[in-house]
Amino acid sequence: MNTTEQLNLFGSTTESKPETKPQTKEAFGRLDSNSTLHDRLLKYCRLRPGEIWEEPTMGHRVGVLDVIDIESLYTIADGSKPSLFVNDPPYNVVVGNVNTKSLSKNELSDYIYFSKTWVENCMAIMPENAHFYIWLGADVRDDFQPLPDFMIMMRGIQELSPRNFITLRNQRGYGTQKNWMWVRQELLHYIRGNPSFSVVYTDIPKILRGYYKNINGKRTENLDRGKSKNIRPGNVWVDVQQVFYRAKENVPGCYAQKPLKAIERIIATSSNEGDTVLDCFAHSGTTLLAGERLGRRVLTFDIDPVFAELTIRRLEHYRKTGRTGWQWHNPFPEMEGSV
Ligand SMILES: C[S@@+](CC[C@H](N)C(=O)[O-])C[C@H]1O[C@@H](n2cnc3c(N)ncnc32)[C@H](O)[C@@H]1O
Repeated sequence: MNTTEQLNLFGSTTESKPETKPQTKEAFGRLDSNSTLHDRLLKYCRLRPGEIWEEPTMGHRVGVLDVIDIESLYTIADGSKPSLFVNDPPYNVVVGNVNTKSLSKNELSDYIYFSKTWVENCMAIMPENAHFYIWLGADVRDDFQPLPDFMIMMRGIQELSPRNFITLRNQRGYGTQKNWMWVRQELLHYIRGNPSFSVVYTDIPKILRGYYKNINGKRTENLDRGKSKNIRPGNVWVDVQQVFYRAKENVPGCYAQKPLKAIERIIATSSNEGDTVLDCFAHSGTTLLAGERLGRRVLTFDIDPVFAELTIRRLEHYRKTGRTGWQWHNPFPEMEGSV
């Protein structure tokens, strides 16, 4: 196969010239929208639907399961009760003008039914005290669905109460010429019972002074009294880099990868070392890697065997090399030359 054919197979949209300098093009584009590539990768996936991979040291578990089936939750948990749930479901929007099976856009009522079902399935393995996070979006081109509809649906889940509503600010956005640039990603935070929470700080120094107070006859300001010289993240996060193909943590083929820093922040605040974390939408395996780095056990799955395989490989690659992703390189090196 010549270079042009190979790049086209890997999802590139541009014609290639023979390479004269190192390639910095992503090994492949969106896996969900390239069925030829996706189906070729299936033969390198160690799990079939319904199967679980178990990691012996930390007890992490990765499966190919459907969140809609309550048995999936019982299977992945295997009797354990995760105290932190970090879920990043498909947002019911068309991403990059391609409506695909993994990131599909459905009727809103179907999407809310899907959402209610998977949330209730999670409740079946939730202990009395737990954190429950959901990443979600609001499509301005479609009446802001599904975020408000999801929030209203959540009012019917009696055991969970709203705790916070976090916005992560992206650097890149869209709609800059005739509108405010759209740079937000939403993160809903619910709790069950009274789970513990740890304070964390950003790397951003406090720059505002003031809030004077007399303590033991001495005039102090907020900088003297604070526990850290840096600010807390609050519920608007402005210090998290988006993942793009040159980022060290990038996993080629994953179009919806969350930044490791954001997931680590959730895990650090909302769980303790040794706790079990559950993520029902593994994709590039960010939650698994974040849990590994912070000493938490992670249970995770994806309906698609290719994403479950990438999740497992990402952990293995990290343990072997210390790298958090592949940047633009191919996570399936055995494929090169054989296609
Ligand atoms: C938005 S992505 C998750 C991104 C992930 N947080 C990351 O950082 O890589 C959603 C994932 O959910 C998976 N998915 C879609 N429907 C599912 C279902 N019914 N059960 C389990 N996983 C599903 C998709 O295959 C996709 O990989």
